[in-house]
Order: sequence, then structure tokens, then C-alpha cells
Amino acid sequence: MKRRTLLQAGAAGLTPAASLSLAATGPTSGREVLTLTQGWRFHDGDIPAPKILGHDWTYGSAKAGNAQGAAAPDYDDSDWPLVNLPHDFAASQPIEQGTNVSQGYRRRGMAWYRQSVKFDDADRGRHLELQIDGAATHATVWVNGTLVHHNYSGYNEMAIDLTPYATYGEAVNTIVVRVDAVAMEGWWYEGAGLYREVRIVKRAATHIVTDGVFAHPVKRGEGWVIPIEVTLATLADKAQPVTLECELLDARGTHAKASTRVQVPMLRQAVAKLQIKHDKPELWSPARPHLYRVVTRVLQGGQVLDELTTPCGFRTQHFDADRGFFLNGQPLKIQGVCIHQDHAGVGVAVPPALIDFRLRRLKELGCNAIRASHNAQDRAFMDACDRLGFLVMAENRLFNPSPQYVEQQLKWLVRRDRNHPSVFMWSVFNEEPMQGTAGGYEMVRRMREVVRDLDTSRPVTAAMNDGLFTPLNVSHALDVLGFNYQQDQYDAVHAARPKLPLMSSEDTSAFMLRGYYGPRDDKRHLIPSYDDDAAPWGATHRKAWKAIAERPFIAGGFVWTGFDYHGEPTPYEWPSNSSVFGIMDLCGFEKTAFHIHQAQWVHDRPVLALVPHWNWQGREGQPVKVMVCSNLDEVGLELNGRLLGRQPVDRWTMNHWQVPYEAGTLRALGWKAGRLVAKAQVETVGAPTALRLVPDRKSLSGDGVDVVPVRVEAIDAQGRAHPLANHMVQFHIEGGEIIGLGNGDSNSTEPEKGDRRSLFNGLAQVIVRSNAGGTGELKLTASTDGLQAASVSLALSPAAAPRQQATGTSLQVLLWWQRAPLQATAPDPQLQPPPQDMNSWQGFQAGNLLPAAASAGYVLCAINHTPYSRIRREGGWVEAPSVTGRCEVYSNGVLLGRKAEAATAPLRLRLPPGEGQRRLAFVFQVDAGEKVGLGSVVKVRV
Ligand code: GAL
Repeated sequence: MKRRTLLQAGAAGLTPAASLSLAATGPTSGREVLTLTQGWRFHDGDIPAPKILGHDWTYGSAKAGNAQGAAAPDYDDSDWPLVNLPHDFAASQPIEQGTNVSQGYRRRGMAWYRQSVKFDDADRGRHLELQIDGAATHATVWVNGTLVHHNYSGYNEMAIDLTPYATYGEAVNTIVVRVDAVAMEGWWYEGAGLYREVRIVKRAATHIVTDGVFAHPVKRGEGWVIPIEVTLATLADKAQPVTLECELLDARGTHAKASTRVQVPMLRQAVAKLQIKHDKPELWSPARPHLYRVVTRVLQGGQVLDELTTPCGFRTQHFDADRGFFLNGQPLKIQGVCIHQDHAGVGVAVPPALIDFRLRRLKELGCNAIRASHNAQDRAFMDACDRLGFLVMAENRLFNPSPQYVEQQLKWLVRRDRNHPSVFMWSVFNEEPMQGTAGGYEMVRRMREVVRDLDTSRPVTAAMNDGLFTPLNVSHALDVLGFNYQQDQYDAVHAARPKLPLMSSEDTSAFMLRGYYGPRDDKRHLIPSYDDDAAPWGATHRKAWKAIAERPFIAGGFVWTGFDYHGEPTPYEWPSNSSVFGIMDLCGFEKTAFHIHQAQWVHDRPVLALVPHWNWQGREGQPVKVMVCSNLDEVGLELNGRLLGRQPVDRWTMNHWQVPYEAGTLRALGWKAGRLVAKAQVETVGAPTALRLVPDRKSLSGDGVDVVPVRVEAIDAQGRAHPLANHMVQFHIEGGEIIGLGNGDSNSTEPEKGDRRSLFNGLAQVIVRSNAGGTGELKLTASTDGLQAASVSLALSPAAAPRQQATGTSLQVLLWWQRAPLQATAPDPQLQPPPQDMNSWQGFQAGNLLPAAASAGYVLCAINHTPYSRIRREGGWVEAPSVTGRCEVYSNGVLLGRKAEAATAPLRLRLPPGEGQRRLAFVFQVDAGEKVGLGSVVKVRV
């Protein structure tokens, strides 16, 4: 076979884009966003590249479009299971000893994902981009057999231009992602795989590039301006003159507009600048997160080529080295938490509705800021922080100023997030050993300038845990110094560097096992929830906050952490597999720290809570330590109606009593200015008699994406939740899917997937997801031996079918065919080219008709293919969407079907099962001058 033919045969599935018209006159309708969440073929484990032998194969394998092995477009993936995104394959792994402790004892490893998409003919000329929001941890991406991207962090997005490689019409485009989750970037659970959203964005040839709008308001004198910077690009074959229009809107309508004209050079970028003014906007703050949006339009000849909406909030900020942080001219103490991105049951594949749930829990806590430790978060997280009102300390993962890291990670982060009113600081690292060195200083200095090139409105900070006093350390290149712990150094650093704003980027690291109030037990890995235990480098919640709250020059702090997270179990290891640092557990169930921080952080409503629960049967008469958390003036405690005393509230240490246990009701009372304004109680409850399911929301969208976390508890005859119940609960779901389970027990090695989970100290959580196209109700039932079962129905609101472009099933595209010379009589369908004959047969690509026949006779077109394994076992279909001419179709000489009419028509023929390679042959009967052939690719599918 000729080398050329071999090359072509290897490129099955790929249609060169040569015919693609790049003229700006192509389709120009606005952008379309198509989610690619459903139907990925997934392979757990690596697939080594084939061992390439021989000159021709080697030569061919080095060519664009000719990736080998599992990266090849026609690789047989028909036996791979289908998965939906977001997908964290580590979350399905058992928790097992011998794997990495920091990653939560889950096996990670390599994996492959494959997806097929079709583009319409009408998409020709548009800009097609694949956007992968996150792949843990390293990723290689191929499109139609061409390697298009390498990515070296699990936390940044990839925006990959598909246009040069795309095929249209019947041809299928293959997207392949190989993820390397052996690689680690953190010391916490990082998950594995395509764990965030993936989509395809179609834009006009002339368009706004991804993250190409910067529109962050600035106060000028008494009024405000929004300097807007828009980056445009065009695929057109000559420069494109366009009009750029920006509009500022909120729920009340349009507030301002501006426009300008721009010339976009061919295949280059143009940056257009314009300004919008607003005299008296409503301001954004955590308390009142008023949002505007900037709509940017690209117009040509009156037609909108592209349009993008960008979130926008008006607020000022500054740090004062003596007085801390100011938002909109007012001092605002940062009452923050650090978080990692995972949640019980789902690992890092946290759908937007669950992100929202977590943020609403933090809002209840009274938290006003979140440190995105130690990496960029999901887009949905950033949007929710704008909407719900949180300040965000955005953080870069890898400390590295080298061009590749800066481009893919730091610049990307700032470009993506600089419009969010929530973002108030850029952190370039966390606890880097080079922080106290001149080298570290040089690195930070460079990274700071990268940030400043893109945004000068927020300070650059870094989280330092050492090196504060060396002659040249990174703090000399920072706008704000972040202390990780080292609370005993606050005063010394402030004295030594009186002009440098200071903040606690991380503090606390205290331990609490949710719902546990017994003695500390290092054998059983039990730490009580009284806020008495902390890591040696940290402090209890109360002590850490006191050190911050008492110092106006410390702008505020970020508690390590808002929620427990998988991995980094501390202070214990196996079988402990998640951390217990959280103010809430892995499910978002509150611990005592929740009440402590509410008492310290909530200023606008009464807070009163008490711990522990009141079920100490067998300990009658013995003292039980009681902690009352309140933001009022005075608190009191009543046992079964008897007042045990009143105390002035201590918001630093909280209020304590030793109460001899007696079953009944223990009630806390709270006074403000002498008036009783709040009561809270714990009670001795009866034995559980039934289960109860409490969903976070009563309805969800039937879009296959929306989720609802459901709390599971065991209740007594009076409907009171039992705080110590530990039943194993079995779940059953109709009209949806359980995507994860949890109970907040850091010592549990029960799987987080499946349909059963035990309660831990009275609670568990089930996360349910709707099915795509779901209507009616989703019904979840919980049962356990000896208790009455519970069920809950959630209304499914009809959702527009998700805009997808996946073709779903594996299919093989037969593109490169061979044609025998015209035969006078009907040839044997198994006819082969004569040995060594390089000339009489011709290779051709399906998609165009053959040249007109010189005389009447028969034309045989054939291709060799090995059907995918499922087709070999079960049989499949040959689909030829466009066949012109009379023909018979054979597979290995066996007639599959015939087409009697000459007119163009589709053919769909059953392909029988069977092992080995096949020869598929179309034998056309032609008249002189007749044009026959395959007007499109031929597909073999399951
Ligand atoms: C810090 C670190 C965090 C976490 C924490 C645990 O030093 O920045 O990522 O490891 O300790 O206490």
C-alpha cells in the first residue's frame, strides 16, 4: 500500500477543514452554549499507546489527525461505561489503607474519557470552542486525532479552539481526554477526572474571546465609571470592522450605554476600550449584594455577531495598615472561612445547586468572606458569591512564575475572576518554603506584576507561615501580608512593618467531631465538640478569633475551615479519612463551632444556642459541661424549669455551666438590654420510632443537573430527632438518582456511593439528582429495621432539554475508501487490489460522488474495518445517510441489502455479529455518464 494511502486509512473519521469558509459572511447568529454533560465513555485506568513498529506506521503516527491508541478517533470504546459530568472517579473508589492519606485513602490514577459531537453544516465559519472547567489533575486533549492541549493543573479551565479540526454534517468529531490523577497538587482530597462542567461554545467568526470582557466599576469623585476592555478576535480572511456596544443593566432596566468602533485584524486580537458612567449606583456589599450586569454586543451591519453578559457590582475597597479593611468607606472586619471544594458523597464533582447549598450555610453562619484555599473554584461558586454576598480571596494553586504556569494558571485566574465584585484579593501562594528567601521574593514580585497588568483594583497577598523577619522575604513584594497562624507574631510584625496591611489568611485548625460530646479518645479517634482541641500550630475557634477581633490592624481572618473535607485527616490517620477542622462537617451539618462563630459574627439578630444534647441516661447526677453561645447581653440556664443561674455573655469564651444530669429539658435564655429576647433548648428524647427526611428544597429542575441534599434523621414518638441514632438506613429513589451519601463521620469507611448509609450521631445526608427530562415527582424513601420508614416527594419542574451536542453511542466512521476500476460484469464483492498494485485502485474520501462513469458497468467501493467489540458480539448497523445510484452492499461477501433506485437516499443495514476484520463493499451498477457514490461518511454503530 502506498504510504499516502496508509496515512489516509489511519485518519478515519477526520475530514480536513480545507473546504471551510472563513469569510465573515458565514453564519453570524449569537453565541450558543452547548453542555457536554451527558454520555461520556469512561475508562478507569490508563491505556498505553500501541507499540509502533515499521516505517510507515511510525511516519503516519507523527502526523496531525493521526493520534494512535485510545486517542484515535476510531478507537473501540463501545464497551466503556457511559458516565455523566461532573464526574469524580476517585469518589467511587473504596476508602482503603495503603493509598495516600492526604488524598483521603482513595485510589486515584489515570483515566480516559471519550465523547463524540456533531456540528451542523450551518456551523461552518463559526468559532467553535471546547471549554473544560476542570480536570483533575493533568490532562491531555485530542480532537479528531490531533493533540490540542496539555494542562498542568486540576484547577484551571481549558478553552480549546476546535475550529481548525472540526468536521461538519454527518461526520462525527471525537474529543478524547486522558487525565492523569496520579499527579498531585495538594495535600488534601483533590478528586480525579472531568469533575466540572464541559461545554462547547459556538460564536460568530468575529467574536469576544473567552473571558474577554473586563468591566469593573471605579469610583471617580462623586460618581462612578466602568472602564470596559473587550478583547475581540476574528477567523475571517480579512480584518473586520465592527461596532462594540455596552449596556449597564439591573432588574430595574438599562442605566447607561456606550459604543465604539473597532477594526479586528484577521486571526489576531483587538482590544477595544470604552467607558460607562453611573452617578449613583446601588452599592454591592456582603450585606446587600446588589448586582448589575454589563451586556457587551459586537455588531456588524446592524446584526449582532456576539453578545456576552458580565456580572458587575459597584463597591470600593481599601486596606489600612492600622485600621484594617474598608468596604464602601466603612470598616468591615473579615469574618472569613477557608474552604476546599469537595462535599460528602460527591467528592469534588459538586454540582452548582450543592455549591449554592454550602454557601447558604456559610451565610447563616454570619461569615462574610471566603478564602478559596488553595486554588481557583468553579465558575458557579464565583457567581454564587456575587449573588449571595461573600468577599472572596481568590488563590492561585502553584507557586511558579514561569511563562507556562503564569499563562495557564495565574493570568487565567485573574482574567476569569476580575469582574466579580466578590473578589477582593489575589493570593499568589500558600505556605511556600521559599517565602523567607530572596528567591521567593523574586518569584512573588513577578507574579504580582502579572496580576497588576490585569487588575490594579485588588491587592496581591500571600499566605505566609514563616519567613516574616528575614531581611528580604516575599512580604516585601505584597500589598497585604497574610498570616497563616503565628498569631503570637501579629504585634511584632505590625511594629516592624507599620505601613503594611495585615490579615490572617488562615487560623484556628481546631478539632471537633460533629455531635460528639464524650471524652477525647485517641484510640477511637473521637474529639469532643467543646472547642478545647486544636492543632499545635493553630488555636481553638474562640482563641483564634479573639486574637484577630481585638486588633484593629488585623483586617480579619479566615478560619481553617468552613467545612470538613475529605483527606488530610488530622490529628489521626487511618481509618480517619477526612479532616475535622470544619465549622460544619462534610455534609454541612453544624458543629459547636457554628454556634460559636454565629455568636461572634452575627450582629443583626439574636443568636442563642447550647450544647451538648441532653441524652445522658446512666449519668444521672453527674456533671455535664454545658456551653451557651450567644451574642446577647446576658444568658441564663434552666433545667426542668429551675433557673440554674444568669451570666453576662462572654463572646470570646462563651458561657459555661456544669449541670448535674437529670432527664428533661435544659433551656437557655437570652436577654438584651434587660429584655428576654431568645430561648433555646435541648431535651431528653425517647427511643427512635421513625425516620424523617428533610430536603433542603421542595422542588428541583428536571434537567439531570439539579440536586437537592436531604437530611436523614431518626425521630422519637414526639417527632424529636435523636442525637445519638446510628441506624443503617436503606434508600430507594424513583424519578431521580442518588449521587452521593455522607454522615460527617471522619472515621467511617462506608462507601459514599450506593443506596445505604448509617446515621452518625443522629444524622446522614443523601444527595439526589433529577433525571434529564424529568417531570412529575422525585420520590425518596428511607427505611431501617424497627423504625417506621419515611419518604419525601420533590416536585420536578420541567426544564428545557439540556442543550447537548453529544452523539452518545460509540460509532465508527468509515471515511477513506478504495475504488476498483470500472468492471464490465458484476464483480465479486470480495475483490481485492492485485498484489503490489499501487495504481489501478484509487483511494477516496466519502462525502463526494465519484466521477461520471466512462461507460456502463460496475463500480466497487470497499473498505476494511474491524467492528467495535459490542458490534462483534451483538451485531450493529451500517448507516449511509446519502447514497446515490443503484447498488448492493456486502459485508465479507454476504449481501446486507440493496438499493434499487438511482436517486439519492439513505441506507441503514443490519450488520451481523462476528469476530475479525470485515470488508464492506458497495457495488454500484452504473450507466455511461452516471454519477454514483457516497455523499457522506458511512457509520457503523451499535
Ligand atoms: C495549613 C495549610 C492548610 C492545612 C492546614 C491544616 O498549614 O495551609 O492547607 O493543611 O494547615 O491545619
